[in-house]
Formats: sequence, structure tokens, C-alpha cells
Amino acid sequence: MENFLPLLNKLHAQGSLEKEEWCALFSQYDNDALRRTAAEMAQQITLERFGNGIFVRGIIEFSNYCVNDCLYCGIRRSNKNAERYRLSENEILECCRAGFDYGFRTFVLQSGEDRFWSCGRLCPLVNRIKCSFPECAVTLSVGELTEKEYRQLYEAGADRYLLRHESASSEHFSMIHPVRQTLDSRMQCLRALKRVGFQTGCGFMVGTPGQTFEHLAEDMLFISEFRPHMVGIGPFIPHCETPFGNCSAGSVELTLLLLSLCRIMFPDLLLPATTALGTLLPGGRIEGILAGANVIMPNISPMEIRSKYSLYNNKNSADPGNAGVLHSDLQQQLAAVGRQIVIGRGDYGERLC
Ligand code: 5AD
Repeated sequence: MENFLPLLNKLHAQGSLEKEEWCALFSQYDNDALRRTAAEMAQQITLERFGNGIFVRGIIEFSNYCVNDCLYCGIRRSNKNAERYRLSENEILECCRAGFDYGFRTFVLQSGEDRFWSCGRLCPLVNRIKCSFPECAVTLSVGELTEKEYRQLYEAGADRYLLRHESASSEHFSMIHPVRQTLDSRMQCLRALKRVGFQTGCGFMVGTPGQTFEHLAEDMLFISEFRPHMVGIGPFIPHCETPFGNCSAGSVELTLLLLSLCRIMFPDLLLPATTALGTLLPGGRIEGILAGANVIMPNISPMEIRSKYSLYNNKNSADPGNAGVLHSDLQQQLAAVGRQIVIGRGDYGERLC
């Protein structure tokens, strides 16, 4: 068995590892001692930066129309059985109002790549949200656009942007996407988002079909070089109406280890305990917090449409309630592990200690 401690210390001291070193860590992910040690280090670093505070963001899944055809995703355009919906501007504002009343100070607007919700429609929406809730941050997660469009959205008031890179290996990226979607284009978008000034989030799934430890090492090398403000990592979960419907889900243990390694690498990182983690394992998001995550993104979309934003099977099992129920449940679960929700924007670089 490899000795993992020198690698964890090096990662903390230097913020990066060599590819072989990443692989050496991943290949031991089923070693409890490694996961426990990494989680303890990560947790200590998180407590030093953020005390017992956990940032929350309310996510509004405002449209499931999508022009893309990602092989893993339940709202891919080829899924003719997906019941499509889009919320109106007023409906989205109502979600923000309800979310605000429960204490959310960041709204994440996420959708498929829906041509109806073009930059020309998104800009006035963002502007209206920022005028109605000036103390709130707006995060967009609406896919690949041009740098010019990203700039317009930034100028309309959007603060942050999430665009998972999905896989930093072009070999693996092309195994999980159709040919017209390229890693090159994804990377250009991410670099543009940072240039424009967004707090930028990338990320990937753990255990997508064909993924190897080398591919994951490439993800970590990309993250250490790109220096995102946020990283979203969740296990892959199959969706029955996709080409990967019969594949097995990713490993919860490996996902938790990756969260810890991200925290050790970048102490300031905004690191969500994802819905997918909570879906695969009951209480999984709390496990994510204990592994070094410091953000939770509860769903504040209208209850009636939630089952339609079905990226993977059982997606809604983690957050069954409305924003209010959910907030008090979450508060209790966090209190049980000595943490509490922060009422505030939770910007990158905001230190609570
Ligand atoms: N399992 C887990 N995560 C998924 N996503 C899409 N489909 C799945 C799936 N089957 C993730 C992608 C995307 C984010 C919004 O959801 O990483 O970027």
C-alpha cells in the first residue's frame, strides 16, 4: 500500500500534484484510512476559513429544453419522452421572492441550453432580479455562449457562472458527448467566463462510463491550473432514457475523496455538496460537508415542475419539500454536525474566520 500522507501534505503545500501522484491516491480510494485522513485535513482547513458557516444557494431550474445531446443526461434533446417546460419571467421572480423570504441570498438560474431563453431574454431577467433583490447574488448555469454574450450577462448584473467541464480529457469527453460538442469549445467558454469577470465554477461527474483514474487526474490537473472559484463534483447516476441507462452509478467514496482533495488543494474554494451525492446516499450532502464541502444548493423551483428536470433517476429524492420545509430540515441536519447556514451571498474569498 502506498503511503498517502506525503502526497496529501504536498498537495496542501503546493496546490498541485503530478499526474502519477493523483493516480496513486485515486487507486487507493477504497482505503478507509486515506479517505478518513483526507476528510479530517479538509474539514480542518474548511473550519479555519469558514468557521461553522455553510453557504446556501437556491437553485431554480427554469427550463428543461436543451439543444445538446449529452449521452448521460436525462434532458438531452434525443429524449423524446422528457416532458418539456419553461418558467416565465414572473414565475422565476416568484421563486426568488419565496427563496429570499427563507434566507437565500444567492439564486442559481439553471436550464438546458434553451434557445428561447437567449441572452436577449436573460439580460432583462437578471436585471429585474438584481433590482428586486439588490443584496443578492445571481449565478447563471445556462451552458455555452459566446464571450460577447457572457459579457452582456455580466453587465446585466450576473455575478457567477457555473459550467462544468464534465471531463478534462478529450478522449473521455468525446465518449460521453456527441461529436458536435467539444472539449475545446467548453474550455474556451470557461476561459472567457473568467476573463469577463465572473466567479466561475467548473466541475465533473465521478464514474461516467469509460472514466479512468488517468482521466480524473486530468480533471484535477486542469482544476489546479485553471483555478476556478467553484468546483461541482457529483457521482454519475444513470437515467433510464439515455444511452447510459444500464450503466452503474459512480462511487460515493471516490466522490467524497475528490471533494476532500479539492479542499486540501484550494482552501478558499466554493465546494458544493451536490444533489447527486444526496441522491445516491441518504444524508450524502452532510457527508460531503464532512469531507470538506462548504456550500449546499437546495432546489427552490416550483414543486410541480421538479420531476421534469430529471437529469438522472430519482433526482428529487434528496429535496422532497418546498423551500421552507427544506430550509428547516437542512438547518437541523447541519446543526447535528455543528454547522449552520450563513445568511449572505457567500462570495468567493469571503472568510468567516
Ligand atoms: N448523473 C449525474 N450528474 C449529471 N449531470 C447531468 N446528467 C447527470 C447524470 N446522469 C450533471 C452534469 C451537468 C449538471 C447540471 O448535472 O455534470 O453539468
